[in-house]
Amino acid sequence: MKFDQPATTNPIDQERVVTRPHTRIEGPLKVTGQAPYAYEYRLPEAPTYGFVLGAGVARGRITAIDTAAAEAAPGVLLVLTHENMPAQGASDTPVPQQEDASPQLAGPEIRHYHQAVAFVVAETFEQARAAAHLIRVTYDVTPGQFTLADTLEEGKEPDDAADSVVGDFEEAFGAAAVTVDLTYTTPDQSQAPMEPHATIAHWEGEELTVHTAHQVVHWVKRGLAMTLKVPQKNVRVISAYVGGGFGTKLLFFSDAVLSAAAARVLGRPVKTALQRPLIFNNTSHRAATIQRVRLGADHAGNLSAVGHDTWTGNLPGGDSEPACEQTKYLYAGPNRQIRTRQSELDLPPGASMRAPGEAVGMLAIEGAMDELAEKLGVDPVELRLMNDVQFDPEKGPKRPFSSRKLAQALRTGARAFGWDGRPRTPRERQEGEWLIGYGVASAFRTNLVKPSGATVRLEPGGTLTVETQMTDIGTGSYTILGQVAAEMLGLTLEQVQVRLGDSEYPASSGSGGSWGANSASAGVYAACDALRRDLAKQAGYPYADAVFRSGKVWQGAECTELSELAGKEGVSATGSMTYGDLDEQFAQAGFGAHFVEVRVNAHTAEIRVNRALSVVGAGRILNPVTARSQCLGGMTMGIGSALMEELHVDHDLGLFVNHDLGEYHVPVHADIPDMDVIFLDELDDASSPLRAKGLGELGISGVGAAVANAVYNATGVRVRDFPITLDKIL
Ligand code: MOS
Repeated sequence: MKFDQPATTNPIDQERVVTRPHTRIEGPLKVTGQAPYAYEYRLPEAPTYGFVLGAGVARGRITAIDTAAAEAAPGVLLVLTHENMPAQGASDTPVPQQEDASPQLAGPEIRHYHQAVAFVVAETFEQARAAAHLIRVTYDVTPGQFTLADTLEEGKEPDDAADSVVGDFEEAFGAAAVTVDLTYTTPDQSQAPMEPHATIAHWEGEELTVHTAHQVVHWVKRGLAMTLKVPQKNVRVISAYVGGGFGTKLLFFSDAVLSAAAARVLGRPVKTALQRPLIFNNTSHRAATIQRVRLGADHAGNLSAVGHDTWTGNLPGGDSEPACEQTKYLYAGPNRQIRTRQSELDLPPGASMRAPGEAVGMLAIEGAMDELAEKLGVDPVELRLMNDVQFDPEKGPKRPFSSRKLAQALRTGARAFGWDGRPRTPRERQEGEWLIGYGVASAFRTNLVKPSGATVRLEPGGTLTVETQMTDIGTGSYTILGQVAAEMLGLTLEQVQVRLGDSEYPASSGSGGSWGANSASAGVYAACDALRRDLAKQAGYPYADAVFRSGKVWQGAECTELSELAGKEGVSATGSMTYGDLDEQFAQAGFGAHFVEVRVNAHTAEIRVNRALSVVGAGRILNPVTARSQCLGGMTMGIGSALMEELHVDHDLGLFVNHDLGEYHVPVHADIPDMDVIFLDELDDASSPLRAKGLGELGISGVGAAVANAVYNATGVRVRDFPITLDKIL
């Protein structure tokens, strides 16, 4: 089924089940420990345990690797190194690929710290770990480049973030009545999901099954097949429950490849969870950025020049951190210059993390808007309203936004938050030893849609089963897909069973880039549409007249029970949703506004967030309970990126020093204040038949800037070097 025109009325619009609040249907399984995560499956045969040894240098060559002591250690079954690793598919980049060969132990060359250099398999985890520490590796070390700031001259325009230049930026900026020219730095950050990367691999003859923690099942299926040089049809991937992805589980790493390779050699199942201290340097992270924002406006605040330059680094072949992207769409202004430059660094691979681009790009552009508002003497909410635009500012009115409620979000939020009662100038309000500040920022996250499919089966008895490769990374996929199917077939949510995360089911969008809910729901919609047509035909009703309600299909007052149509065998249908050229016709993004109140200790500069409000316009909200949780999670991550998250680079040795959750700080309960979310009424006809849009990452994108702006309002100190730690304020 192809979705290529704005939606007309469809069954989802009934909103009997969709849009209704419902807690997660798999919640009881999770809290009672019955939902198996990748590492927890029990196979008929006892597993063996894998342990990954990471390189102790960032760049160089292994000149010798002595595994004799490890091989002789108790319980050890196999030690894999580049010297005995079975043949693998090749890759021309050291960066792990989403759905292509990503070889491990492929040769003696070391491209980043904690790159896997050996894999020990033993009867127990403890035996594997003990043996791994008996391996002696000798390296010939090559000097590396670990400092982004030293590479700015070498940066090249990356393939994934082309320059966009409209009008004459330099001239307009030079002529503008009021300007800001500001540089921001954001650090390397780690996705740090609670569940580590983990895999259980086992072979039956030529058939491989992997239970692995992943966001997009068909990607890892293809990627593993390419890496192991086996046909894709021989690989089954199961990722039914995932304990957080945050982007790092869009890729597959040493746990998956080495478990699968070793299991084949041994003829026994191998299970491996990456030990926490390895994850930070062995897998992916968000690369640091340096960003320069230049804005020029007239005295009233109308933008005439919008400039955003980002410098970013990665291993060769890696993506950029596209921190400029939102600036192409966020505000009006006739002269625009938006550029990314990427240089080569020898740090671990940079890749997607929680709103790639916007999460850190919004820190810069929304901080600069706050500084411009101050210079102009304009309310920062007003400045944003003044420069709102209903079409793509680069392409003009011929490419309108499919929906854009930035202005409504700002106005609604300002009212609900009490923006009018804010301190107007820095250090204006103090309560005891705490300085109080308010901050605002826009929210923006591009809306992506991906093809997605599902099978739905009307079971004997009249209940419905939904099967799709879609994953649930803690987001609520099980619940919303059940709601969509229930709505389409006129059933209750309790009558629907949802099965996810198995490559035996139809390929799905998977979870990533906030595309999951809308795209995977559209796939379930397509499958349900096919089933409805079959059932209406069986009942003898023209499809146009058929109404599915209360477990029956109706034509006027006449009806047939679905259980009757299901018969003894059941009836199933498979469908998938693809998209036409909507992306060319419409600019698509979610919009919103973040309001934050902080207190900063006048003596110690300790920063606490008192309250945070996000107002969100993201199309139809499929389930307000799970959607709200998505936003609260995003806001929490945004507060983390503003105030604490930072990988510390050792600039001599080329590694992230704080590689555990004790030293890589993310917000905990005590850091998180009174938070609230308001959803705007919105239907996006051009996004999908659900009329929904991406949601999860909208919560992150902008909230950190609102925190920074509030810290300024409290203290009078502008910190443009994230995270804002107290030493930068004192
Ligand atoms: Mo997201 S960082 O695309 O999982």
